[in-house]
Amino acid sequence: MNAFPFTRRHFLAGTACGAAALWLPDYWQPGAFAAELTRTPAQMEGPFYPDKFPLDTDNDLIFINDKLTPAVGIITHLTGKILGANGEPLRNAVVEIWQCDNNGAYLHAGSDNGGKRDGNFQGFGRFLTGTSGEYYFRTIKPVAYPGRTPHIHFKIKQGEKELLTTQCYVKDDPGNDKDGIYRSVRDQKLKDAITVDFAPLKNSKIGELAANFDVVLGVTPESK
Ligand SMILES: [Fe+2]
Repeated sequence: MNAFPFTRRHFLAGTACGAAALWLPDYWQPGAFAAELTRTPAQMEGPFYPDKFPLDTDNDLIFINDKLTPAVGIITHLTGKILGANGEPLRNAVVEIWQCDNNGAYLHAGSDNGGKRDGNFQGFGRFLTGTSGEYYFRTIKPVAYPGRTPHIHFKIKQGEKELLTTQCYVKDDPGNDKDGIYRSVRDQKLKDAITVDFAPLKNSKIGELAANFDVVLGVTPESK
């Protein structure tokens, strides 16, 4: 089976029925903003990268394969671009995300709350970027678990090469300032680079959110 069954074509088709506002035209000009780009800081991988991949690893974390029951949580359309240090979009980058479910359980045997795992949440997904460097995931708004403020883990690869491992955070979450890993980023500009607005999706009747997290490469990946 295709490793990326939920393709760009699927996504673009999806925009026709309501989410068009998410996918803005790309006015990016090579080098135009190079001096202003802040490289996304690396963040630790943490202990919960899946130790067993889900049966489905596409970019829709709300449904596993053809199951009819969606994951529990606030549906979030997570978009962004993978950019090189000079602002050039990165093609053929594999974007991986993983996060805990609405009960705080990861796809990992060592996870807290494993007994309460939401069997409908995919927990992990991948997206292969095209020429624009853009990615798209449908997932849930991350929730806190003991010791951590809400976050989504990201790993960017090209082939087997790991380019960056990081985490993104929910803007204005009251837990952020108490989170040691978030606070380890001292520079406000770098902190802003991993802090994302989870905003209501316009015209959504079911309270979906939209979040955009652009990743600028160029920082040496942190070791595990
Ligand atoms: Fe985590």
